[in-house]
Amino acid sequence: MIPTEVQLGYLAAAVCFILALKGLSSPRTARRGNLIGALGAVLACVIVFFERDLDHLVPILGAVVIGAVAGVIGARRVQMTQMPQLVALFNGVGGGAAALVALLELHDLTRLGDSAERFALAATAFTIVVGAVSFSGSLVTFAKLQEIMTTRPVIFRGLPVAFGGSLVAALALSVLVVLDPLVILGVVIGLTGLALGVLLVLPVGGADVPIVISLLNAFTGISVAAGGYVLDNTLLLVGGTLVGASGTFLTKLMATAMGRSLANTLFGALKGGSTLGGGEISNRPVRSGGPQDVAILLAYASRVIVVPGYGLAVAQAQHALRELVDLLGERGIDVDYAIHPVAGRMPGHMNVLLAEAQVPYEQLKEMDDVNGDFKRADVVLVVGANDVVNPAAKSTPGAPIYGMPILRADEAKQIVFMKRSMRPGFAGIENELLYDPKTTLLFGDAKDSMSKLLNAVKAL
Ligand code: TAP
Repeated sequence: MIPTEVQLGYLAAAVCFILALKGLSSPRTARRGNLIGALGAVLACVIVFFERDLDHLVPILGAVVIGAVAGVIGARRVQMTQMPQLVALFNGVGGGAAALVALLELHDLTRLGDSAERFALAATAFTIVVGAVSFSGSLVTFAKLQEIMTTRPVIFRGLPVAFGGSLVAALALSVLVVLDPLVILGVVIGLTGLALGVLLVLPVGGADVPIVISLLNAFTGISVAAGGYVLDNTLLLVGGTLVGASGTFLTKLMATAMGRSLANTLFGALKGGSTLGGGEISNRPVRSGGPQDVAILLAYASRVIVVPGYGLAVAQAQHALRELVDLLGERGIDVDYAIHPVAGRMPGHMNVLLAEAQVPYEQLKEMDDVNGDFKRADVVLVVGANDVVNPAAKSTPGAPIYGMPILRADEAKQIVFMKRSMRPGFAGIENELLYDPKTTLLFGDAKDSMSKLLNAVKAL
């Protein structure tokens, strides 16, 4: 029987997790939400030390210290643009931990022999498989995003058979372990789960990796929830369910924002459709201009829309951009930022970046709210963005981004791209808009170009 004060502590932690999710739903309250969630997690960990008479206290505390130090150093050092990799890694570790805990629990359940509860054994097997899938799958997504391995889909003959075979083996072994609980079966289930995770993520192309990270995040949540059942720990059950549910929603939202179904994301490459483009660059002529040319375009406009993208984050040009937008605003020009849901490399990337530069939230317009405005815009200033304005998403069936809703920058009277070269964006495909007669290219690092542009506008 769990003491009442412990149950109340768990309840408080669960409430913290729910409030954290609520806070994370808006950029305005996200920081507070994050802190409340962290507080809930610390509370949950502290309660365990008081609730149970723990053996092996020294190694446990040692592991906590090592994990905390690695987490703090990793999180402080990581660049904003590498955040998705960090999330993948942290998520994978969570799944791996759930699988290991379930394996230990299986060890205890085997001691009960035939009296072991069948449902607990099934939940244990489930936790081992799903946790292991999440662990190995997350490591592969990390390697893809960190470009330790190719970001292209990795397909080989027999992959579907290997995947299907591993899935059937994991199911069959799980049934076996319920009928005859043996630790060695649990270990083999774990290894099968690891293979499944690798085979699941290998065929996914770079552009779709974020959706898979979110899916694996949901897997970790579900495995932790099942682990909570196995360990008879209500808080793990609640926390895992929250992570599983929010991860599932995020996966759905991201898949919709990228215009892909989940099945197409995971198995599209097996059907022959590439999920990453070829990266060919043609040498057709383009119109390039200097900061003064662009300054004149902007200064004589009455409606300007800024489209920020991944390059803005790489260049760290958000502060200079905000200064430029403020300056244009002071001159009576109507300026908004158009935010594409998957601009950058993680959900909310542009919101976080621009919030850091103190851009008021009211100036950030969601894609659906701003798309009707482009045809009235005199100038669209595309800063380090590419795929999110690429008309191939509407016009080229078979393109990796085909079907992805885009910002309709092509409808504006003038378009300015700030980028360093003619290289494509993340999806690896050419952008016809760069060759459009109404497009001007301002080549250079976005931060450098932005400060030159700012000075040029000031000088007018
Ligand atoms: P991208 O299509 O990746 O384009 C970024 C552009 O920034 C590139 O054309 C690059 O051109 C330019 N750039 C890079 N560094 C720069 C710098 N220092 N100064 C100036 N320009 C620079 O970005 P996007 O339009 O934001 O689209 C996001 C893409 O990432 C989508 O395909 C999306 O599906 C994918 N994705 C999204 C997420 C999420 S959830 N947001 C996660 C992962 C992937 P140069 O190299 O010529 O400078």
